[in-house]
Amino acid sequence: MSFRLAQRLQGLPQPATIAMSAKARALKAQGVDVISLALGEPDFPSPPEAVEAAYQAGLRGDTKYPPVGGQPALKAAVAKKFLDENGLLYAPEEILIGNGGKQLIYNAFAATIDPGDEVIVPAPYWVSYPIIAQMMGGVPVSVICHEEDRFRLKAEALRDAITPRTRWLVLNFPNNPSGAILERDDLEAIAAVLRDAPHVLVMADEIYEHLTFDGKTHASLACVAPDLKDRILTINGMAKAYAMTGWRVGFCGGPGPLIKAMTSIQSNATSGICTLAQAGAVAALATPAAGRDAMRDVYQARRDLVVARLRSMPHVTCAMPEGAFYAFPGITGALGRKSAAGRVIVDDVAFAEALLEEAHVSVVPGSAFGQTGHIRLSVAASDALLIEACTRLERFLLTLV
Ligand SMILES: Cc1ncc(COP(=O)(O)O)c(C=O)c1O
Repeated sequence: MSFRLAQRLQGLPQPATIAMSAKARALKAQGVDVISLALGEPDFPSPPEAVEAAYQAGLRGDTKYPPVGGQPALKAAVAKKFLDENGLLYAPEEILIGNGGKQLIYNAFAATIDPGDEVIVPAPYWVSYPIIAQMMGGVPVSVICHEEDRFRLKAEALRDAITPRTRWLVLNFPNNPSGAILERDDLEAIAAVLRDAPHVLVMADEIYEHLTFDGKTHASLACVAPDLKDRILTINGMAKAYAMTGWRVGFCGGPGPLIKAMTSIQSNATSGICTLAQAGAVAALATPAAGRDAMRDVYQARRDLVVARLRSMPHVTCAMPEGAFYAFPGITGALGRKSAAGRVIVDDVAFAEALLEEAHVSVVPGSAFGQTGHIRLSVAASDALLIEACTRLERFLLTLV
């Protein structure tokens, strides 16, 4: 008997990220030495200040149900962060603490999307936006950002994608997976398009904001275009910049009525966020920026190492990622060729599978992110692992015929 699932789950894509990691796990279980560059997770420990603060919070009995929207101390720390780092003034009722950035995205779409509403998601995109939009009955509309444009969203492409049914534009820069950023000029051009489309809300997912390279800095759309602030939801969190993925603390600032509706959804889904994790987040936000910057510098050096190696390999192109901790090389030059074990590389999924099975390097095919012909490698791994992974990848490419 087949198990009956809700209609809204019908037709949801199975993220290739999950299939690939299952395969990598199976190989590892057989004793194969697989190098995994598939995950989007910092390889640094969380700040000790956060660990200590969480421990102390537990000892002093801060273990009761927290307010749904976030503890006052964390809301205050987040308000200060938004003001100091992003030039954004948010009142406490315009801030929500969530169980990771992901829950905030879920809450926002659940609060606003009616069946048929369109969500513009520039591609390549982080896998969860279109899936969550679809779960709410929304229709994801992908706008391709091209390698020759450094994967930046072009204002003209955005203008062409907007329809009367558009409900949201998702702006995730620095971008997972391409590492693209948007500079002030890009944001101003996008803001001009948005001024002509007053029905469109903007989700600015800035979770990689501190990971920008070569001296470039992140700018928030709501600061560049303050006249649009009342329809921008600025999402951020502790996971990437503070290496706190497992703590599950995300935060956002946005228009009061939207935050209120999102809080109500959270209230019925999960209630407030773990008190100890919130105490840890307060402490981490108070640490000097030098800790974050040191991690960013390491990612930048690894990016340089990996991109230089990729660019020297046959059949590969690679735009220089300007932020985040991924490389997103093009592998169309390898398509149609045959691997040493006789696999035909018909597309990026076949490429990633063959690379895993034959060279024991796990990456994610670009089609998982809405852009075929690419693979994503995380550079959140040690130099030694990255060098070995590049050597394996190069050997794999050299044997393609
Ligand atoms: C672009 C982007 N946004 C949001 C998230 C979710 O982060 P969190 O761990 O805070 O839920 C991720 C995690 O990979 C991400 O890559």
